Amino acid sequence: MIRSVITGCGSYLPSRIMKNADFEGMIDTNDEWIAQRTGIRERRIAAEGETTADLGEKAARAAMAAAGVTVDDLDMIILATSTPNNTFPATAVEIQNRLGMHHGAAFDSQAVCSGFIFALTTADQYIRTGFAKRILVIGAETFSRILDWTDRTTCVLFGDGAGAVIIEAMEGRGDSSDRGILTAHLRSDGAHKDKLYVDGGPSTTGTVGHLRMEGREVFRHAVGMITDVIEAAYAATGLTSADLDWFVPHQANRRIIDASAKKLDIAPEKVVVTVDRHGNTSAASIPLALCEAVADGRIKTGDLVMLEAMGGGFTWGSILLRW
Ligand code: UT7
Repeated sequence: MIRSVITGCGSYLPSRIMKNADFEGMIDTNDEWIAQRTGIRERRIAAEGETTADLGEKAARAAMAAAGVTVDDLDMIILATSTPNNTFPATAVEIQNRLGMHHGAAFDSQAVCSGFIFALTTADQYIRTGFAKRILVIGAETFSRILDWTDRTTCVLFGDGAGAVIIEAMEGRGDSSDRGILTAHLRSDGAHKDKLYVDGGPSTTGTVGHLRMEGREVFRHAVGMITDVIEAAYAATGLTSADLDWFVPHQANRRIIDASAKKLDIAPEKVVVTVDRHGNTSAASIPLALCEAVADGRIKTGDLVMLEAMGGGFTWGSILLRW
């Protein structure tokens, strides 16, 4: 059985750090409220002129170096983003060109904060059907460009960044001892659109728009949706939280992460957390967290890793993989 195995990952964060205290004086907020309600202490903000393609390209180059591959080895690039450089062409194609790749295919995938889970699952389908052998999957965002910097209920929550992985086809036995993606579960429900959306777009206002969110409503749904897709992964594989080595959740709010881990009986020491330093980087948050835990030696070959995300749409999903 063909499995999609992650053979390298890389990430990139803009150099400018914005601390919670930096909002004081701009809007009616304070470090204590942000830290207590979200766990966020600081986030990165892209420099003027620094784009999603810039961040994504740097993460992609780092992932390729980690996997020991060049563009000649790639069949496809999938970029998860809700903050593309342009309405079209896809920012993935721009990154493809910058990397000097002129074969294969590149396209963007849009599922907001669940974007990386959707993109990686898409890549897994291409690999397992034999359509592609090696795919670069990127999550890159510049959410700072779509924030309303006068709205204290949203602008303190998000940050910019990028993470990327190389996945490639490897032969497995077909059981849960295989390396690679063991199971993936995707969900969406457009009935929740008005709880988290951007109030502009090419076909409506003709403008880019700003992020709008009913935070409490999103929070209310988050833990149940996360639990749903993780339990689906357990049902599909016969594995349980006790088998997990690492839990790498989307990083929106420390309270959502802790509540999900508690409900699923995942031990706190297995949870990878970056929200304190990155804020919510949407589609970039999972590869950023994953790469950090790989780089510092926590995630090792053979470890069982659960990825999950929930976000605008609503969209939500999980991927269970063996590193
Ligand atoms: O990636 C997926 C998408 N996003 C999420 O998953 C986010 C989900 N939601 C959340 O993380 C939380 O709901 C928030 C962090 C957004 C808000 O936390 P909360 O505990 O749900 O607070 P709340 O919205 O119930 O607001 C409590 C109070 C309100 O004041 P009143 O109405 O009680 O007087 C807010 O106006 O806190 C106020 N508030 C603030 N105060 C200081 C809201 N934002 C701020 C702020 N600073 N930045």
